[in-house]
Amino acid sequence: MKRREFLSTTLAMAAAGLAPRSARASDGLVEVLLDEPIGTIAPELHGQFTEHIGEVVYNGIWVGENSKIPNIGGIRKALVDHLRQLRVPVIRWPGGCFADSYNWRDGVGPRAARPVRTNFWDNTTQLCKAPDGPQKYDPNTFGTAEFMRFCQLSGAQPYVAANVRSLTSHDFDEWVEYCNSPAGSTTLAQTRATDGSRDPYNVLYWGIGNESWGCGGDFRPEEYAVEFRRFTSWVPDYGLKLRFIGSGPGAGGRDPQVPWTRGFMENLVAKSPRLLDRLYGFSMHYYCGTTGKGDSLEYSADDWYQMLWQADVMDSLVNQHWLALGDYDKERKVKLLVDEWGAWHRTTALGPAYLFSYVPSLRDALVTAITLDIFNRHAEKLAMCNDAQLVNNINTLFLAVEDRFVATTIFHVFDMYKSHQGGQSLRMVCDAPEISYGAGKTLWGLAGSASLHGKTLVVTVVNTHAREPRAAEVSLRGGEAKSVQVMVLTAPDIHAHNDFDHPNAVVPKTEQAGVSGSRFTWTFPPASVSKLEITLV
Ligand code: AHR
Repeated sequence: MKRREFLSTTLAMAAAGLAPRSARASDGLVEVLLDEPIGTIAPELHGQFTEHIGEVVYNGIWVGENSKIPNIGGIRKALVDHLRQLRVPVIRWPGGCFADSYNWRDGVGPRAARPVRTNFWDNTTQLCKAPDGPQKYDPNTFGTAEFMRFCQLSGAQPYVAANVRSLTSHDFDEWVEYCNSPAGSTTLAQTRATDGSRDPYNVLYWGIGNESWGCGGDFRPEEYAVEFRRFTSWVPDYGLKLRFIGSGPGAGGRDPQVPWTRGFMENLVAKSPRLLDRLYGFSMHYYCGTTGKGDSLEYSADDWYQMLWQADVMDSLVNQHWLALGDYDKERKVKLLVDEWGAWHRTTALGPAYLFSYVPSLRDALVTAITLDIFNRHAEKLAMCNDAQLVNNINTLFLAVEDRFVATTIFHVFDMYKSHQGGQSLRMVCDAPEISYGAGKTLWGLAGSASLHGKTLVVTVVNTHAREPRAAEVSLRGGEAKSVQVMVLTAPDIHAHNDFDHPNAVVPKTEQAGVSGSRFTWTFPPASVSKLEITLV
């Protein structure tokens, strides 16, 4: 029987109460098709994003060498330790909108001599209420050398976003020169050596602006295509194949902004199709907006489902922009990136200087898991994705206030999902009763992703139901489980969260599943993220 026939027959039989014994015990299906590979899951799909915004850089990452907070040359040690644990592959910096206001020269040379500049975000109403500090007036203590050091300590590749709105392509070339020119070769290589690194940083990833349709210059796509061409012509490469990333759309659920993608691509290839060789990737942004009162911790069951539904929109956005790229890039040279994503709630809790920060809950953990599963399922299309943002901000992995530091629910999802990195993404089909909510809305009950790593199969599954567990038949098409270890992240209350007083309110629990074979039943708890690490026969 063919796979799709098997699925429809099994589910139809189950619905009619006629299913075979093993299937009758379950009301869901998680089927992994080991002979249907999708593509390698680039570790970069688990990338992070850090911006000079609120308390992300100052206080979040940078505490200063003389701080009583444990640090490595001024960089918060607890953060570095956690990032190493995550095997964080890449970190984007310095923005975000900040990038198109940033003069990299302000952040090099002796720290004490660096200028203080008005931060891009100073205009926001919330920051107006904050006391004067580095969030409003950036002292530039954290510049290129400090960011590179942070990446090196964390084991991540740097991804640097250039300023297209308010600097020239010549400034960009010189930033590349500062970072990558060989030891002892140029005046800027000498500046870099004085800043702490005689050796070049060999930065590969360069973003050409950020949100160029908005804060990055209010360009039209055809105008931005001109800027992209100008900025990427004859950049000094020092023998490296630099990876230039085009600034794509800021997609919203109701408006995927495909015309930006089309407009840019059309104008790029109109000059010459050869220019596709310069475009390593094209990046879109998607924030699933908040629901109900907009609070990260106060929400109804309907708000819960609506937010998870909004997270799931990522799937169609990836498909739509990938299709649009393919109309201009027949050979599929250009990959898609999502270099900002996350759930954006109203700022709460930490104070006015912590722009866009909130305490993430179990709901945000599920948003994160749903999103990472989508990325895995589109492994052949995506080159990099960056959670916005690492610390003290939207979809944050950590909260850090002075010497207090806590890993949020979102951190734990990244920690669970790191097992997917570098694996072969496999087709996986999930089915479960749909959930009805709100006025006639529906959401799927189970979804996830699977990846193969030699004899280890990693399967992650989200049960979106706020109250009901879901017993599912797990079926391995083309494989057999010898043993299964399960890790589950959940809590009795859908509002559960970690904060400074309750750092371990939501942490994953591990158990040996005691199941084997090519089919077994597993019960996914309500409101949960599960990982099955399956050792194959
Ligand atoms: O992540 C916060 C902001 O959201 C970024 O600076 C910008 O790129 C986006 O609009």
